[in-house]
Amino acid sequence: MGVILLLHVLGATIWTGGHIVLAVSVLPSVLRNKSPELLLQFERRYERIGMPALLAQVVTGLIMANAMLGDTGTWFGFSDPISTLVSIKLILLMLTVGLAIDARLRVLPHLSENNLVDLAWHVIPVTLLSIAFVVVGVSYRTGWFY
Ligand code: HEM
Repeated sequence: MGVILLLHVLGATIWTGGHIVLAVSVLPSVLRNKSPELLLQFERRYERIGMPALLAQVVTGLIMANAMLGDTGTWFGFSDPISTLVSIKLILLMLTVGLAIDARLRVLPHLSENNLVDLAWHVIPVTLLSIAFVVVGVSYRTGWFY
């Protein structure tokens, strides 16, 4: 399980780290210069490792959750601290996937100076969700929430 946890932490560095760079370093200059091209350049380079990293998070996360909880019936249980943390992770995942699909199908295909703010309203929540994933993940060990 150590290798699964290592892959999970590596995936977290790519997903959460990449989105913090996007939100803090790239997005402000995209909005200031009204430059969709700046964002598309970042997206083209990042998505090649970003999407596989998210997939790795889901696979390794589900393996670890299964090892901790076994019966998938309790995953949405909020019945005990661990199943509560797994439920929160799955809710964060659904929100992230929802925003990513909306950005990919509705915002990015028509990206221009006029809908950069709309894109910002996808980048910022996805970044905050990625940080929440890390906080909830680390809380398994620290017991912050139970
Ligand atoms: C982008 C998505 C995700 C990120 C950034 C993320 C990040 C993290 C981090 C940083 C940890 C702490 C690792 C440690 O204590 O060394 C963690 C732990 C954990 N994550 Fe995730 N995670 C993500 C998605 C998921 C998903 C979808 C699940 C599935 C339910 C999940 C289940 C877990 C579990 C069970 C642990 C505890 C592992 C342990 O302490 O042994 N994660 N996560």
